Amino acid sequence: MMNDKNDTHESYRQRALNHLWVQTQQYNDLATENGLIFIEKGHGIYLENMEGKKYIDAMSGLWVVAVGHGRNELGKIAEKQISELAFANPFAYATPPAVDLASKLAELTPSNINKFFFVNSGSEAVETAIRMAKQYHYNNGDSKRYKVISRIGSYHGTTMGALSVNGSPMLNRAPFEPLLPGIVHVPNTNGFGEIKNEKTGLDDMFWARYTEERIKFERPETIAAFIAEPISTSNGSHVPSKEYWEHIRKITQEHGILLIHDEVINGFGRTGKWFASEHFGVEPDLLTMAKQLSSGYAPIAAVGVSDQVAEGFVGEKEDSFVGGTTWGANPVSCAIALGNLEILESERLPQNSATTGEYLKTQLEKLKNDHPIVSDTRGIGLMHSIDLLRNPETGEDFKPEDNIAKRMPQLLLDAGILSRAGNSIQVAPPLVINREEIDELVDGIDQAIGIFEDEIGVS
Ligand SMILES: Cc1ncc(COP(=O)(O)O)c(C=O)c1O
Repeated sequence: MMNDKNDTHESYRQRALNHLWVQTQQYNDLATENGLIFIEKGHGIYLENMEGKKYIDAMSGLWVVAVGHGRNELGKIAEKQISELAFANPFAYATPPAVDLASKLAELTPSNINKFFFVNSGSEAVETAIRMAKQYHYNNGDSKRYKVISRIGSYHGTTMGALSVNGSPMLNRAPFEPLLPGIVHVPNTNGFGEIKNEKTGLDDMFWARYTEERIKFERPETIAAFIAEPISTSNGSHVPSKEYWEHIRKITQEHGILLIHDEVINGFGRTGKWFASEHFGVEPDLLTMAKQLSSGYAPIAAVGVSDQVAEGFVGEKEDSFVGGTTWGANPVSCAIALGNLEILESERLPQNSATTGEYLKTQLEKLKNDHPIVSDTRGIGLMHSIDLLRNPETGEDFKPEDNIAKRMPQLLLDAGILSRAGNSIQVAPPLVINREEIDELVDGIDQAIGIFEDEIGVS
């Protein structure tokens, strides 16, 4: 006889399988006995499933929940804003929360970025930034510029423009081809394919110079923008040198190419500074942001633009930026995002990301000494990757029967950790994490890797 709790769980399981499209997951996997994970509650760095089992949210959801789960003060802000004003036509009017949020962002973002266009997701922010870059040139009578340079290994979203600048072989672009014309992919800071820096001894300045030559080859006068994360998360959190970004900034400026920094993950303290571009002393022309802008308490994203780009849209009616979005600058989302930024600021969470992140980095590095399959640990702030190989010395990868893609997430789950894992484990906890919680997190990872090593007979 099932008890009520089991009944409820089974009912949710059945209805989820029938009606809910769990994003990116394979139905056949979800339909296996423990294939579907339900999250019901959250508090601080922890999430709880329907049976009350607690997990460390080692990914901050999806690099989102900077201020931690269960912040009631943001609920109160939402309630107050809804009772005052839930919606006003963003195509035509401004609202106080949107103005307050934009003003706050002007304080926090690099000094040249002072105007903000609000949208609803990171993909939409990327899409909007690409459109803005193109229209900026068009407005300046430079309509030959249609190409966008992006980097291999990058991820920028799922709308057709964002999808087209993605540079990840993991993301299957094939079903959606033909994609946006004029997208040129250049190697990332650590090389690509078999020509990786660690194998060849090349460094990121080699790839910066390669990018320069590729830009010349493409004819710079046809290029509208260069888009990249300052520190590419999807490409494994390799932290580039200051010189790399200085060089890219110099060549984009020389050729009149707008630099779009995609800080959808990097932004708002994830890397230990408010914005990752600050690590390199480089100011982009456009800056995309989402995720930690609201810590997930409301769907909101934005494109910030430099004074120069904003100026390109000032003039006659036809110079105005073409196209808006109904939910853009939603007053409730803006009020929540502002409340979230105030928490980030008052609790000094970007600073905590830097200092606690340094501790996390040291603890993760120790895993390399203790575990033969840990080939590398990398990262900055609270954004880290642990790379795994069957034999790091020979470069031997895991065998299909090792089943790492399924076993590693499961073993982490058994150790009380929710993360993205396969032959790389992503470690990006909420920015409110403290040292004791880091110890608990690293102990769990340590345990999961150890069990996996025993399972595949490597120790
Ligand atoms: C760097 C980057 N840009 C854009 C996106 C797309 O954001 P969204 O999933 O909100 O559309 C993501 C999503 O993870 C991202 O990591």
